[in-house]
Amino acid sequence: MRNKIVAGNWKMNKNLSETESLLRELSAKLPDTDAEVMVAPTFVNLSGAVHCLESSIIQVIAQNMHFAESGAFTGEISADMLLNIEVDTVIIGHSERRALFGETDEILAKKVKAALAKNMRVMFCFGEELGDRKSENQFNIVESQLKNALFNLDADSWSRLVLAYEPVWAIGTGETASPEQAQEMHAFIRNTISQTYSADIAERVSILYGGSVKPSNAKEIFSKPDVDGGLIGGASLVADDFVGIIKSI
Ligand code: 13P
Repeated sequence: MRNKIVAGNWKMNKNLSETESLLRELSAKLPDTDAEVMVAPTFVNLSGAVHCLESSIIQVIAQNMHFAESGAFTGEISADMLLNIEVDTVIIGHSERRALFGETDEILAKKVKAALAKNMRVMFCFGEELGDRKSENQFNIVESQLKNALFNLDADSWSRLVLAYEPVWAIGTGETASPEQAQEMHAFIRNTISQTYSADIAERVSILYGGSVKPSNAKEIFSKPDVDGGLIGGASLVADDFVGIIKSI
């Protein structure tokens, strides 16, 4: 059985007191669930979030990290810094990092390797842009993103990887991939992993969908056999919406 996961990527939102109050509300309203529930506040509020969630099942994860151990990298955060504040999972490869901060497949491959070397879990994001989908090139794009950043890893590393397929055209736009489009891509991803590694590894890896997931569409998307949960942006900033999505899994 694969882990079901619902994760909230808060991006650059919420100051410390807003973070604490949203986490308190979420904790109070959290339904009984078999799924792993995660939130990714901004770096400065990670420690506060960990403290706030000490007795909660909600996991605190990071939105990014640098690949170097330490050194002259002004403004960056290392794996050790995250681990030291009890954050052991990191999102790598979000489309906003790729598009707005110049993170290439090559940089992302280094980040994934660095995080795994520290025994962290990695939630790796990828997905095609609108133009790629319009030209029916989405499968080639996704395959090359996976190949360039992940397919040099050894088989054992896959137990600490979670994948998040986030079509760029569906992020923050209100436009969601249809459940059929999500299933088609997730099945393609699983099949590609199966051919590159093994059927067993492909069967075990959780593949999340991200892009305008809301309480109103979550159930249908999550009902698809290869969709193992969601990476939620905007709707994870409102406790009732995030709880509604968790209830849908
Ligand atoms: P939205 O849910 O706001 O579309 O964002 C998705 C996302 O980017 C999660 O990482």
